Formats: sequence, C-alpha cells, structure tokens
Amino acid sequence: MKVSGSVRPPGDKSVTHRALILGGLAHSRVELEGTLTARDARTTARLLRQLGVQVGPLRAGNKVTVEGGRWRSPRGTLHCGNSGTTARLLLGALAGQPLEARLTGDASLRRRPMRRVTVPLRAMGAAVEEERGDGLPLRIHGGRLRPFTYHTPVASAQIKSALLFAGLAGGVPVAVSEPVRSRDHTERLLDYLGFDVRVSGTTVKFGGTGPSWPGLPPFRLDIPGDPSSAAFLIAAAVLAEEGELVVEAMGVNPTRIGFLHVLERMGVSPERSGERQAGGEPVADLVVRAAAPRSTEVTAEEIPSLIDEVPILAVLASRGEGETRFRSVGELRVKESDRLGLLARNLRAVGTQAEVQGDDLVVVGAETPPRGHVETAQDHRLTMAFAVLGTVRGARVELSESDSAEVSYPGFFDDLAAVLRP
Ligand code: S3P
Repeated sequence: MKVSGSVRPPGDKSVTHRALILGGLAHSRVELEGTLTARDARTTARLLRQLGVQVGPLRAGNKVTVEGGRWRSPRGTLHCGNSGTTARLLLGALAGQPLEARLTGDASLRRRPMRRVTVPLRAMGAAVEEERGDGLPLRIHGGRLRPFTYHTPVASAQIKSALLFAGLAGGVPVAVSEPVRSRDHTERLLDYLGFDVRVSGTTVKFGGTGPSWPGLPPFRLDIPGDPSSAAFLIAAAVLAEEGELVVEAMGVNPTRIGFLHVLERMGVSPERSGERQAGGEPVADLVVRAAAPRSTEVTAEEIPSLIDEVPILAVLASRGEGETRFRSVGELRVKESDRLGLLARNLRAVGTQAEVQGDDLVVVGAETPPRGHVETAQDHRLTMAFAVLGTVRGARVELSESDSAEVSYPGFFDDLAAVLRP
C-alpha cells in the first residue's frame, strides 16, 4: 500500500465527555467546537439531557451548545451504553448533588468494575446500592459530601475525574494520588476555567469551588483531535510500503502520547510541528512515514499514557522483527472487552506468536501475511487495530463485525481508505 494525504482525527473522546459534563454543571452557556460526535459522546449528551441539561445536537462540523443548570432526578434509568467514561464520570457528578439515579449499560459495560469509583464516592458521603455486585446496574443517591483525600490503587483517569467532579458538584475540596499519573484532562479543564487545582507528582488537589460557582461566565472550548483515534491511521501509515501521512491538529498532551515514544523506539519518528493550545490542551500536526517497526519493551510506568493504544501497538509489534513485551497490562482485562486475552487470541488467529504471561503481553513479529478470523467482541479498539493489520500486503483478516468503530471514530473506514492506495 502507498500512504498519502492528510487526516484530521475526530474530537478527543475524553475531553468531549468532560467538557459536556462540566458544561452541564455550570450555570452558564458553553460553546464546544470540535466535539466528538461518536456513539460514546452522544451517550453522555443524551444522559445530560435526561438530567435536565440543555445540550444541542452532536453533529460533525457543528458547534455544540450546553446550557447547564440544576440537574433533576431522571425519570428512567440512565443507560450508559458502551461507555465506561460516561458511567464513571457521571457517578462522580451525581454524587455531589441531592439526586437519585439508576445507571446501567450494555452487556460489555455491565461486566466492568464500578467499585473502584463507588467505594471512594461512598466514603465522601454518597449512598450507592448495587443490584448485582461490583458493576452496573446500580443506584446512587447524592448529597452532602465531605472533603476527601484518596490514594487510588489503580492509575485511572476515570477514578480521578469522578472524584474531582464529585468535589466540583458538591463544592468540597478533593485530593487524589495515583501510583502513576493518568491522563490529566479534567485537571487542565478545571485550571483553564480558573479553579484552584494543583498538581504535584502523582497527586492532584482541587481546592473546592469559589462562592460564585455554579455561576461561571459563558465560555467556549476547542476540543483537540483524539490521539487515540489518530494512532490507528498513524499505524496504517507505518505499515504502508511507501509514502507519508499528515495528521492535523492532534492532541499531544504528554499524558496521552506514550505511544509516540514507543513508536520512536520501534524506529518510527513522526515529525511534530506547529504546536499550539486548544482549550488548555496542546495540539500539533504530525508527519508519519512508512517504516519497518522494530521490537521494544513497554514498561509498566508507560502504560497509563498509552492504555488505549496497546491494541494498535501490539499489531505493529506483530509486523516488527523480534519480541515486544508490554509489561503490566492487566487493566486491559476490564476494558470494553477482555482486551488482553482477545488481543493474544486474535493475533494467534492470524498467524502471529502472541501470549499473555501473567499481566504481560508478549508479541513476536512475523513476516508472513496475517490471515484469519478476528473476534472483535464489539470492542471498537480491537476492531480498528485489526482493520489496520488487514491493510498489509497479502493480508486476509476477517473481522467478526466492523460497526463498533462508531463508538469512538465515526468514518474510520472511510478515512483509512482515503489515505491508503494499493
Ligand atoms: C479514559 C480513561 C482510560 C481510558 C478510557 C478513557 C478517560 O480509562 O482507557 O478509554 O476518559 O478518563 P482508565 O483511566 O480507567 O484506565
């Protein structure tokens, strides 16, 4: 394949969820530019509307207006679909308000752990009733919260952000420490809006809201391109036989671009230029060239900065030479699917040597064309990663479905086809 042209990745999923929720909490008019319009983002918008927030339609190219206000207890259940970020962040925001809500999700989300968020939220003062143990469905009664300091055993931006949103909605100070720093979009957004947020090492301290909260002055926000979505096209460009791809306005927040550092060690160095700011986040343009990836080792400390890129990096490793080890990727077992088990199984299904060793994933590069059937388990990131593998010369990769790409990247297959030519 030859790669050429340029692509603008869709709006950042993490930032979109946060901007919508924060806009929904502030009693002001918020304009969002470049929002993600994919299924997960629409889920957050729909649930906010169910809670009484006015959110305009999420359509590609549209500015989205959010008019927040007092939330009301929803009449029906809040159905979070496939979106763990929606469920966990909303739990935080609901905990700080005198509301009662029941949350559920699709079969994948109902399997995912929620106690990592509900245990600290209970300690802050929210009441939570589980229906089936550690997961959805569950009911939350928010209300008066206590100031709170928490050391989370898992480095997770969803846990950290749920607690920060609880502090924001409930008007209490919150401090969260994590073993390794996870993505810091919530901290940046709060700081951008003038709140007292201090970060030192792996601890973030939110000083509480000022007396004028929730009355923020109207604001607008530009949402950067999602590096986790761009990573699939970047990988497709690397695996092409010749050419180069320009990626425009991609978020380059250091807590998100661990995959670029791994790519460098694999012998691929995307060129970065035009760094600028968008709503408190750095963005830049990238040029990526076709290259033969080398094997490397991905350390446990790097994982939070590339947690969603392990599938596509594993696909690259499967086309490299030698053995690549991803250390301590046990968290992948509780993503939209058991990503760890399925990654290894699917890589083997297309003829690559791949194995889970404890919490590590080991992938050995192969030269033979990948051929076989891939079970995506409707996990968007597995779908897109193996679709990219299917673009290498001689490949015959059959996906169990391809619709799940819409969860985070509308038009992914069109973008992929537009930049690659046989
Ligand atoms: C996200 C955080 C990550 C990531 C998810 C989005 C976020 O989860 O996997 O896709 O927006 O906070 P964890 O922080 O729980 O690992």
